[in-house]
Amino acid sequence: MLGSVVHFGVQFIQRLRTYFTNGVTVEGQLAKLTLSKDDLIKQMKLITEDMNNGLAADEETRLKSSIAMLVTYVRNTPSGKESGDFLALDLGGTNFRVLLISIEQNHITMDSKVMPMSKDLMTSDAVTLFDYIAECICNFVKEKNVQDKVLPLGFTFSFPVKMLSLTSGVLVKWTKGFTASGVENKDVVVLLKEALLRKKEYMIEIVGLVNDTTGTLMSCAWEDQEVTIGLILGTGTNACYMERLENVAKWTGKIDEPKQVIINTEWGAFGDNGSLDWIRTEYDREVDANSLNPGNQIFEKMISGMYLGEIVRLVCVHLISKGLLFGGLCTEKIAKRENFLTKYVSDIESGQPERINKVLQELGYDEQKAEDVDRLKQICHVMSERAARLASAGLAAIVKKIGRSCCTIAVDGSLFKKHPKFKTYMESTLSELLPGNTIKLMLSEDGSGKGAALVAAVASQQQT
Ligand code: GLC
Repeated sequence: MLGSVVHFGVQFIQRLRTYFTNGVTVEGQLAKLTLSKDDLIKQMKLITEDMNNGLAADEETRLKSSIAMLVTYVRNTPSGKESGDFLALDLGGTNFRVLLISIEQNHITMDSKVMPMSKDLMTSDAVTLFDYIAECICNFVKEKNVQDKVLPLGFTFSFPVKMLSLTSGVLVKWTKGFTASGVENKDVVVLLKEALLRKKEYMIEIVGLVNDTTGTLMSCAWEDQEVTIGLILGTGTNACYMERLENVAKWTGKIDEPKQVIINTEWGAFGDNGSLDWIRTEYDREVDANSLNPGNQIFEKMISGMYLGEIVRLVCVHLISKGLLFGGLCTEKIAKRENFLTKYVSDIESGQPERINKVLQELGYDEQKAEDVDRLKQICHVMSERAARLASAGLAAIVKKIGRSCCTIAVDGSLFKKHPKFKTYMESTLSELLPGNTIKLMLSEDGSGKGAALVAAVASQQQT
């Protein structure tokens, strides 16, 4: 008797709660954000269509694709015989780096300097941005006392660039919060050369322009010949892979050996034509609407480090507004855009009580209830897993496209490196989608820098 009264009471309270929350429950919201195997198979089919269309010879077909499938002109992975001293530049995220790299057989040494890339510079103009880069290079070569040597430079510029050759390429569109005027539709190598000349710097010779995905693939391929895909999971996300020329209908160069070329997919833009609308949620739409490039980089905005924390924040704020989290208390800090850093997602996913407490304190929650901590853990888990599953489905589509049952994927980027569970989520999704295949995720140590130097090395050897 008492049991059924209690049961009735619990049910009544639950119904009342659902009534006041308009039917929103934590489980219901999180279920919308969870992707089934069938969802991922559908995503693979869609991205494969886009990849094929993006490689087509005729423009009409290419325009159907949301992803650019850019040809890189990098056709060889390193042989291991490269050698020499190189400069490398790495521009593409929250930091900018200059590196001095020595390649000897079986050994690479690097010396680098990281310079912050302020929001002001990111949103300035071509001359301001490239003058700053040139100045950093000049100071660096002086500091390292190599200013009197002619140094070949590899430039990792991690944005969508339509390559015209290995040493020239036009920025198609800024991504990741960059908006500096006068750079889109311009050759970024010319902009850099002009800035170096303004600084009276004549000893630097730009011999290679690469995307970070290509750099990552190259740096890992130097160690392991099985590497055929490069992946970035950092501020942004993107992948590249080695494609057979016969599949690149838009290739206009000679069909000579090696009959292959690296394709920079620019998959961050997948879904820009509406093809992902069936899995996008209100949170994804809000992140996009508040961004500097609404309507662009839809896939990237569901996955990468620049946006993951913000999606988690939006889910939390929504649940708080329904009284389902933190007792309905919305602190000023959590209410503010971009205040839930992606680093916090890693902290929560680590499961370490000190890291979790610190995050909650930083968000203004001094009193912490076990129930709230559990819910926050659930939210971070679901959102991280969603991102990892989306990226893995993209990879699975590439693996199928190149027909390899065994391959190694070179991975770089702060999200992948710092998130304690991202790799595990990806590994289990890859085996779910590609049963029987052997796919290895290989962490690239400083792929962008090393890779730019290796491309420079391969290129300067081709010149001699
Ligand atoms: C963005 C850029 C792309 C880059 C990726 C990772 O998606 O458009 O070129 O590779 O971020 O940095």
